[in-house]
Amino acid sequence: MGSGTLVSLLPGDFIGGNVLIVGADGVDKGLLDAVIKKAGKLTIIENERTAAILDEIRKNTNCDVDCIKMEQVIGVDYSLVLCNGMLDMELSSKFLSWLLPDCYVMLVTHCDKVDESAVDNPDKPTTYSLESVFKTTPSKNSYGFVFVASRIIETYEDHRVLYSSMFKKVLLGPEQDRRLDSLHDVLNDKTYTKKISTFFERVFSRGGDPGYISTGGAEVTEECMRRLDLQPGQRVLDVGCGAGGPAILHAKKYKAHVVGVDISSNMIDLATEVTANYPDLNIEFEVCDIERREFPEGYFDAIYSKDVILHIVRKQELFKKFLKWLKPGGKLLITDYCRTTNDFSDMMEAYMKKRANVWFLLTVPVYGQLLKDSGFVNVDAQDKHAVLCESNKQENIHLANKRHDLLKEFDQQFVDDWTDVWKNKVKIIGNKDLTWGVFYAEKCQ
Ligand SMILES: C[S@@+](CC[C@H](N)C(=O)[O-])C[C@H]1O[C@@H](n2cnc3c(N)ncnc32)[C@H](O)[C@@H]1O
Repeated sequence: MGSGTLVSLLPGDFIGGNVLIVGADGVDKGLLDAVIKKAGKLTIIENERTAAILDEIRKNTNCDVDCIKMEQVIGVDYSLVLCNGMLDMELSSKFLSWLLPDCYVMLVTHCDKVDESAVDNPDKPTTYSLESVFKTTPSKNSYGFVFVASRIIETYEDHRVLYSSMFKKVLLGPEQDRRLDSLHDVLNDKTYTKKISTFFERVFSRGGDPGYISTGGAEVTEECMRRLDLQPGQRVLDVGCGAGGPAILHAKKYKAHVVGVDISSNMIDLATEVTANYPDLNIEFEVCDIERREFPEGYFDAIYSKDVILHIVRKQELFKKFLKWLKPGGKLLITDYCRTTNDFSDMMEAYMKKRANVWFLLTVPVYGQLLKDSGFVNVDAQDKHAVLCESNKQENIHLANKRHDLLKEFDQQFVDDWTDVWKNKVKIIGNKDLTWGVFYAEKCQ
């Protein structure tokens, strides 16, 4: 992975601000250059090796550069902390107190990856120990770090990974606490564990092209994607990219440059495995919560998101960000589960109760209107109930036909439980309680 990818993780807000760099000697050169060019003032934490690079840093920036020992840091006004190296609770607490609110710490760190080779071990989802350090670091005045994004830079044979992560200092009000617990953790550790994600992949991909976790697998995805009319070299953001099937399609068929992001590190693991056979495709993956991520304005030619935004409560805030990240004339394609009315039947009520805090559904017209209200033009909102029906029917047939194979990979109880969920969905869809929308929109020229 090149510096460009790391640099694209950098938040815009630190420009002109105070930047603290810990472990400057080990930071990727491209990343270091990008940071020092944009900083207003630099503080470098001194170690035995910083002297060697200090002259170079000073040569590459017009701003003040201080080189001090960790004990001498008194600032509480840093806009960015860039830290290369290991981190513990004590250091993360210091970062929390030194940073301005809503600012970021970017870590470039080696970390052990939890061994996830056993698919049937839901209690041990893939996670990186650093995330846990940050989740348990709220300060007295209720500020804490929330996870924003992480990208693997390199994977080693001994299962260690070098990766870069962004955390944001936020005021942890009750809502933040709830979100932190309920969204990232629930989606990663309950809804999309490695085992469940793998099972979903087997059902939705139906033995065809791998890497699909959504309505109609490769066939329906291809049909939807056509609308974007991607051109070679265009940059497309795949929001909630799942196990990477759609990313391969964007990159292989349309020669697009894909940035696939997903809140579940389990999904990104699967996506990395699935795309390993396509080293020449232009695909980058990142674990991130799209609600917390910022990309530069006008960064993407197209944004694509299939069956993801049902998990997002504040949809309009996200649509406004999409609008900002698109180039003028840029295209947006969303598919999503939708409700048909505001009054749920008893059956749907029970179905939704099991998905409380994880599914937030709108009707198709309300969805379309929200896109218009967010500033999109040429909005086309279509109710594709028949596609959902057919997809669900095929998945049920596949589950029955491939039960024997699935039982080789997953335990019987698990397969039975999920087969019941799929059967139950037939009723909800048949009763028109649940439908599926396809939304196309553009940013005006
Ligand atoms: C039903 S899967 C769809 C995967 C993929 N789009 C596909 O078509 O195969 C929904 C995906 O959305 C991801 N997701 C949900 N909320 C997210 C968020 N806030 N940020 C990023 N990804 C999110 C989930 O982790 C999951 O992988």
